Amino acid sequence: MTPEEKLTELKLDDLKTDVFIEEEGRRLKDAIGDGLAINALSGGVDSSAVTLLGHKALGDNLKTYFVDHGLMREGEPQHIQALFKELGVEVVLLPAREQFFAALQGLTDPEEKREAITQTFYKEVFGKLVKDSGAKHLLQGTIFTDVEETIAGVKRQHNILAQLGIDTEKAFGYKVLEPLIRLRKPAVRKVAEALSLPEEIFNRPPFPGPALVTRVIGEVTPERIETTRKATAIVEEILKDSGAFQYMAILHSSKVTGMRDGKRDYGDQIEVRCWESKDAVTGSPTDLPFNVLEKLAERITNEVPGVVSVTYNITKKPPSTLEAI
Ligand code: XMP
Repeated sequence: MTPEEKLTELKLDDLKTDVFIEEEGRRLKDAIGDGLAINALSGGVDSSAVTLLGHKALGDNLKTYFVDHGLMREGEPQHIQALFKELGVEVVLLPAREQFFAALQGLTDPEEKREAITQTFYKEVFGKLVKDSGAKHLLQGTIFTDVEETIAGVKRQHNILAQLGIDTEKAFGYKVLEPLIRLRKPAVRKVAEALSLPEEIFNRPPFPGPALVTRVIGEVTPERIETTRKATAIVEEILKDSGAFQYMAILHSSKVTGMRDGKRDYGDQIEVRCWESKDAVTGSPTDLPFNVLEKLAERITNEVPGVVSVTYNITKKPPSTLEAI
């Protein structure tokens, strides 16, 4: 898809995965020829599908990187690297933790935080990589909903560039190719399955590109990310069989008074969200049994240092969004 072409959705019912994979693969080959392209894998279904589609079409002319920005879930970079090795794709880990935390330091405004991620990702990390490697193209897994939400002014999705009038060649020194841009999430899952990705990937709950940053209200520091990461692991463990579309732990910016061992304990608040949704455009909270909610509260307050309060979000999207940032 080039920016000049009008973006229209390719509906799930109209999707023929083999034709889609063939056509998009050919477009990539035509665009890249004998040159070198790179892509960033995050382990989500979108970037995983692009990685395999790209490798099928381009072979060694595509190099895949995992940006280890320190904002992911526990053990995620190594897990995804190992999983793709099994599929025959070499993934290079790119350490970038210091750069991302430095860019986020002192920022509390959600859109400023998103912009800091975008600039660090595309300009600093990938700009340098592209320059060093001689690649002229970056492949990425932008999907139809990302574009819609950004254009509608809901949120600036981290991966939206051309549709906001950003000339990536001028701004960052490379062209961006987005083979999934006409698809919504259910269609991407179908393509991912057809590409022979394992079910763990094609049925994975969505996880946002800016990672845990979308779940930290207020300033993002390594300590606050760690609190969110620990709470996330518990929420994911307890709710993994809930059948929900997405579930998450959000760290609030304000502390509240609590008590531990008979003494005052001024600590953090974690908000749990668990969503029923088809394509993330609208959503409603899952009707979780009360004993599950109690278990979430008990484990989070016992196992995550500094947390004294756990709440459950009962708002629909809209007016809420799925993520907090
Ligand atoms: P919201 O919070 O806007 O989220 O209701 C809708 C869906 O999009 C995911 N999300 C993102 N995905 N880059 C992404 O790749 C982003 O910047 C981003 N922000 C939100 C979110 O997890 C949900 O599935």
